[in-house]
Amino acid sequence: MKRSCYCGDVREDSIGKELSVCGWVHSRRDHGGVIFIDLRDREGLMQIVFQPENKEIFSAAERLRSEYVISVKGLIRHRPEGTVNPNMPTGKTELVVSELEIVNTSPGLPFEVSDYVDTSEELRLKYRYLDMRRPSFQKNFFMRHKISNEIRSFLNEDGFIEIETPFLGKSTPEGARDFLVPARLHHGSFYALPQSPQIFKQILMVAGFDKYYQIARCFRDEDLRADRQLEFTQVDLEMSFVEESDIMGVIERMLARVFKAALNAEIKTPFEKMTYADAMLNYGSDKPDTRFEMLIQDFSAELKDCGFSVFANVLAKGGIVRGLCIPKGAGFSRSEIDGLTKFVGEYGAKGLAWMKVTETGAESNIVKYFKDEEIKTIVSKLDGKAGDLIVFLADDEKVVAQGLGALRLKMGKELGLIDKNKFNFLWIVDFPMFEWDMDEKRWSALHHPFTSPKDGETLSADNAGKVKAKAYDIVLNGVELGGGSIRIHKNEVQKQVFELLNISQDSAKEKFGFLLDALTYGAPPHGGIALGFDRLCALLSGEESIREVIAFPKTQKALDPMSNAPAEVSEKQLKELGIRIVVKQAKN
Ligand code: AMO
Ligand code: AMP
Repeated sequence: MKRSCYCGDVREDSIGKELSVCGWVHSRRDHGGVIFIDLRDREGLMQIVFQPENKEIFSAAERLRSEYVISVKGLIRHRPEGTVNPNMPTGKTELVVSELEIVNTSPGLPFEVSDYVDTSEELRLKYRYLDMRRPSFQKNFFMRHKISNEIRSFLNEDGFIEIETPFLGKSTPEGARDFLVPARLHHGSFYALPQSPQIFKQILMVAGFDKYYQIARCFRDEDLRADRQLEFTQVDLEMSFVEESDIMGVIERMLARVFKAALNAEIKTPFEKMTYADAMLNYGSDKPDTRFEMLIQDFSAELKDCGFSVFANVLAKGGIVRGLCIPKGAGFSRSEIDGLTKFVGEYGAKGLAWMKVTETGAESNIVKYFKDEEIKTIVSKLDGKAGDLIVFLADDEKVVAQGLGALRLKMGKELGLIDKNKFNFLWIVDFPMFEWDMDEKRWSALHHPFTSPKDGETLSADNAGKVKAKAYDIVLNGVELGGGSIRIHKNEVQKQVFELLNISQDSAKEKFGFLLDALTYGAPPHGGIALGFDRLCALLSGEESIREVIAFPKTQKALDPMSNAPAEVSEKQLKELGIRIVVKQAKN
């Protein structure tokens, strides 16, 4: 019995025809001597009917259970009056079975195959094949396929060429920990899985390909979160003879096309731009969610001589004071405010000062320490209205920005200020080249060490903090969707940057010597970007976690409950690799 069509595709135009369909038993209902089955395949559900007249088939149908695989043949008819289901695309029709083959059986299920079942993620991942049978889940993968298809078509038409780069390579400096692969033929040496194709794509520019892309798998051994996996996919591109605006233009046109194809949504281009400095000041984040206002304001200058010792002391030591106005927050109880204080504490804040805005000014335990003029400035700068709650953090810039930025997001979500129908794209530009690493007491690259400084910048140790980079990030609704830069294409500049990063000539040669060599052989000016493809798919599917758009992801603990990876290997394998396990960790 061959299949005439998918179950989910049967419509009224098939009425009167004899069709064969195959699929999984989604549900079974016995109704006064008639058995109804909802049969499911990737296109959807259809109702099939077993009538008691055909005794042999009917008694076989009585044995059917959830997720049995069957193949049936029968006449498609209009459902009887009153039994039409307007919620199902196939709801006007049903198939009356004349032939049945039970192709395969299934034991009792660990959880129901349904979009409405609430099961632990651990169990869902252990039985991923059952989890993935859920209709909404299948939809995510058809969406993912559509997006990658659209991206490929766009880039192909735009003159990009797809080139694969190695998985087994040398460590690339994207800032995360590498996954290492022991080399069997060279005991003691390791390949590193690529954190991104960064160095290879630059070399492809030196090789003259001009416009490269790759939908590339990347590997980073980092702590997992909702938007991070150990292996993930990038839409990676690189172009020669370009400026920042050229790369941005390609991405804007590509995303406009993807959003149109995936959601039939028109997105406005060019996207807004915001400097890194403004993002950090007003949103406390380099990936601001601009779907709601609630901007952070700085009061360091205005409160320099204020009478509140907590603020005055922090300011005297070179720290900063910033505040945020929570609309209608004056109704918060003391214990709710304590909750907020605890929340910012996780970002290192030592407390949370607050004032309730009133018709005449403000009230709280600390208002008495401020002059009327200061209160007025605070309220007006934050555009506070009677009934609002103003909160402050005083600390070094990082703690204040992170604490208030996170609090702003939390409040935006809890107060329902975020319009879920908006797609707010934003370029973050004018990134600093370097940031000071407190622990290591040295400058480190904010993007990666191949990022070009802006034209005319002085690359010296005492100026390092002020140097801006030709780097850009693209942010969508508070998610960092991608990042890139114009690269250094002159060996001398690259050397200066390594010097500032305290990477010795020998170490640079050892680590990236092949790129430095390549740059000396007529490297064209070039630049590129990489988008987090899983994040893009999650956003377009309306999912919070990228695990919902990745077929076989790892858990938060970096495990695969289905295959039980990672796992021990045999002594023989270790011996071949010249590896001896010294300390074994108990598996939890
Ligand atoms: P970057 O490190 O910013 O840039 O990575 C680009 C984008 O990849 C996504 N991403 C991740 N997605 C899921 N899980 C992860 N662990 C993960 N890490 C990153 C993010 C991020 O914005 N070579 C440069 C690009 C360039 O300069 O051209 C790079 O890899 O969405
Ligand atoms: P205290 O004088 O310690 O009782 O603090 C008075 C108020 O200031 C309390 O609401 C504290 O939570 C708050 N506070 C303490 N340290 C800070 C800080 N670094 N930034 C903001 N508020 C603070």
